[in-house]
Amino acid sequence: MAAEEKPHEMEQLLRKHSQSHLLAFWADLKADQRNSLLTQLDAMDWPGIDAWVAKYVKKAASGGIPRELTPPEFYPALPTGARQRDKYAEALKMGKKLISAGKVAAFVVAGGQGTRLGFPGPKGDLPISPIEKKTLFRIFAETITAVSDRYGTTCPWYVMTSPLNHDDTVEIFRKNGYYGLDSDNIFLFQQGTLPNFGFDGRILLAEKGKIAASPDGHGGSLKALYESGAIEDMKRRGIEYISYWQVDNPLINIFDPLFTGLHALDGAEMSSKTVIKTGPFEKVGNFCIANGRLTVIEYSDLPDDLAQKENPDGSLVFRLGSIAIHIISTAFVEKLNDKGFSLPIHRAVKKIPYIDSKGNPIKPDKPNGVKLETFVFDALPLAANSIILETIRKEEFAPTKNATGTDSIETSRQMMIDRAADWLESAHVEIPRKADGSLDCTLEIAPSFAIYKEDIAEKLDQIPKIHSGDKTYLA
Ligand code: UD1
Repeated sequence: MAAEEKPHEMEQLLRKHSQSHLLAFWADLKADQRNSLLTQLDAMDWPGIDAWVAKYVKKAASGGIPRELTPPEFYPALPTGARQRDKYAEALKMGKKLISAGKVAAFVVAGGQGTRLGFPGPKGDLPISPIEKKTLFRIFAETITAVSDRYGTTCPWYVMTSPLNHDDTVEIFRKNGYYGLDSDNIFLFQQGTLPNFGFDGRILLAEKGKIAASPDGHGGSLKALYESGAIEDMKRRGIEYISYWQVDNPLINIFDPLFTGLHALDGAEMSSKTVIKTGPFEKVGNFCIANGRLTVIEYSDLPDDLAQKENPDGSLVFRLGSIAIHIISTAFVEKLNDKGFSLPIHRAVKKIPYIDSKGNPIKPDKPNGVKLETFVFDALPLAANSIILETIRKEEFAPTKNATGTDSIETSRQMMIDRAADWLESAHVEIPRKADGSLDCTLEIAPSFAIYKEDIAEKLDQIPKIHSGDKTYLA
């Protein structure tokens, strides 16, 4: 083959799929760049790409969401009635047993780009805690250490990254000495990517020899867990349940015995936590039953009339918000992959840097194409059984999405302080408050001090008197 001659088979394949432009700069590429480009092209699911272009790229998918939606049943945060109280007690016992037996693993998805936060680097490295400025990763690691110590077990931690931040994340863990955990019990792996498209259906080039691609969404975790060998590793360790959460939530209760126990007792394959929405249009997914299956419908997709629909008592019909906290059975992930599953594709119109037909890099100032993603909650309808447990927002959900305003570093940090105050006050510790009831101190509780609210009562002798304006760190 002459130096600039294009590889014939690939040329033909690309022509068949209307993507010939991907070899336009072949003559300009060095040997290693050519090999790399061919590897990228070989890895593409070409029949899939044709279908996506037709269905999601050139237009938004039609069909929309089913109109026949009903609200699902759920377990309330506190049991109602004697039967449910008994069930919760049994679940709690069962959950503790499973955690102690080392059957539950921690799994955080951290492959996102965190564009809205404007933080350079992986979001898990964001300093967030109110006094010690611990990063999100450190808070999770300390929780895992505290739980492992408490239950006398080893809780392995699986961390999903993406090609955008994998090397940086690995380096952050290494630099921080794996936050005191044994590196053998931390499994960092990458999710897959999907190509980016122009509105005309042509795949964009990021460089002359590089396809523009982005992470395949947190739904990609279900494939990546399997393909990375994480599921194999879990099976070897006897892990049966995966505690899934998003990297942006410092209040996560990673090892929740009640949630784990209810999931296990009901023989569920994938379960979820919910908070009651603050209003019809809160920006969280909505749990719904569609075509007889549990489904999450994003806030942007739920029609306004359904979002606002009320019960006779004035509560919202669709009031169960999805906070992206799940228990997933390892057997379910294995079953999906063995069967060769696929999740629905979601389309996002974005500004995507690319090189034009002359090879000039372009940084668009308005949306110029489409990124495709899959969502983990789209696996819920595939689960044979599923439970939803309500949790109290201030206890467990402080998303850190934006630099300022709602769901920001500031609100998230304040929620950490508020929860600490709430835990202490529930054990009758006096907390200074201003005349308007707001807190007059800064508080931080380390996981080594308390994992759960109930732990505070055992530690009263270690809590100093807290005065107005104090910064009190309990560790
Ligand atoms: C998400 C949920 C929303 C939920 C809310 C709770 C979606 C579409 N929406 O919103 O239903 O109420 O969180 O906070 O998910 N991630 C990856 N790989 C990817 C993409 C994302 O690992 O390819 C991870 C991110 O690192 C992050 C999480 O998934 O931990 C969520 O991503 P994000 O883009 O912040 O989701 P939201 O749209 O904010």
